[in-house]
Amino acid sequence: MASVPARTDLARTYLDHAATTPMVPVAIEAMTAQLGHVGNPSSLHASGRAARRVVEESREIVAASLGAKPAEVVFTSGGTEADNLAIKGAYAASSPRGRDRVVISAIEHHAVLDPARWLADRLGADLVRADLVEVQVSTSGVVILDELIRAVDERTAVVSVMWANNEIGTLQPVAEVARIARRVGALAHSDAVQAVGHVPVDFAASGLDLLTVTGHKLGGPVGVGALLARREVSLEPTQHGGGQERDLRSGTLDVVAVAGFAAALKVAVEAQTAERARLERLRRRLVETVLAAAPDAVVHGPADPALRLPNVVNVELPGCSADALLLLFDAAGLDCSTGSACTAGVAQPSHVLLALGRSVTQARSALRFSLGHSSTGADIDALARALPEVLSRARAAART
Ligand SMILES: Cc1ncc(COP(=O)(O)O)c(C=O)c1O
Repeated sequence: MASVPARTDLARTYLDHAATTPMVPVAIEAMTAQLGHVGNPSSLHASGRAARRVVEESREIVAASLGAKPAEVVFTSGGTEADNLAIKGAYAASSPRGRDRVVISAIEHHAVLDPARWLADRLGADLVRADLVEVQVSTSGVVILDELIRAVDERTAVVSVMWANNEIGTLQPVAEVARIARRVGALAHSDAVQAVGHVPVDFAASGLDLLTVTGHKLGGPVGVGALLARREVSLEPTQHGGGQERDLRSGTLDVVAVAGFAAALKVAVEAQTAERARLERLRRRLVETVLAAAPDAVVHGPADPALRLPNVVNVELPGCSADALLLLFDAAGLDCSTGSACTAGVAQPSHVLLALGRSVTQARSALRFSLGHSSTGADIDALARALPEVLSRARAAART
C-alpha cells in the first residue's frame, strides 16, 4: 500500500520565515494533546462539549493576545480565507446600501488584492461591480495618506491596508487608516498576518473593524487563522453551511489546529518584545553581510526599525536575476524567496516593488530573506559563506 512519504529534516539554512515558520514546541504539544480525541464542537453530547471547550478556551487566548473580545474571533482556515471574508463579506453587506467603493493599498498581499479586483472586474449577477481604488505608496512602501483620504468617501464599503508588508516589511499607519475610514462610515480592515508576533498588535486600540491573522507565520500550524470582526460589523458570509462561527464561517472547526494556533499565538505575543530586539540584531548583520559582498545592493523598505518588521530584508542585487539567485542559493543549501510565497514560481515582477517605483528589471533582481524564531547567527554565517560564489555565478549567468 502506498504511504505518504516521510519528510526528514534537511541540513539547510532557512531564511524564508515570512513564507512559513517552523512550529514552536508548545503548539506541537497542544495539538498532540488533542489528536486522539473525538468530538465535533457543534455536537451537544459530552464529547462535543469537550471539543467545544477547547475551541472556546483557544478563542479566549487568541482574543486576549490580540486585544480583542472572544466574541470577535472568527476562526478560519488561515489568512487567505480571513482576507476574502473581510473584503467580499464587507462589500456584499454594504454595496446594496450604496457603498460600492473598495479602497486598498497598492502593495496588499494577493489574498486582499485578488478578491478586491474580483469585486471590481468579474462580479456577476446581483451585486454591482466595485469601484476599486488602489492607493499608491511612498518609495519605502508607506501608504500615502493624502491619497487615501481623497479615495475614501461616503460610497466606500471597506478600506483595507495591511499592517506589515510581506515582501519589504514596511509597517503602515493602521490607526490613522481606521480613523479615515470611520469618518465616512466605511469599514476598516487590516491584514496583520506578518505583523503579529513581530510588532505589537492590539485590535481594540487600532480602531479597526476587521483584522486578519494566521497560524503558520507565528509558529502554529498551517490551515488555521482568524478574522477578528467587531460585533457591530455587518458582514455577509462567503461560505454557507452549518452556521458555525456566528454564521460567518460555516464548516466544522479543526479543534486540533485551533488549539495549536492559540498556543503558538500566546507565546509569540509574550516573546514579541525580546524577539523583535533579537531579530533586529540578526537583521542588521544580514544586511551588513549582503552589502559587504555586493556594495551596490539596494535594501528596500524603511531604514528606521520603528517603521518596519525586524525580520524581513528585501534586497535588489543589480546585474543578477532573482530567479537565478534563488536557484543558486537553493543549490548551496539556503532557502530564500523572490517575493511572496504565493506568487513565487510565477514569472512576474513583484507588484509591491513596482509600486515602490522600481523598474521591471530592478524588481526582477530582488530577493527576500526573512528571519524567525529559530534563526541564529549561524544562518547569517552560512549566507556569508554562500554569497560570493552565488553572486559571481548569477552575474555570469545574466551576461550570457
Ligand atoms: C500578508 C499576507 N497575507 C495573507 C497571507 C495568506 O495567509 P495563508 O497562507 O494563511 O492563507 C500571507 C501568506 O503569505 C501573507 O503574507
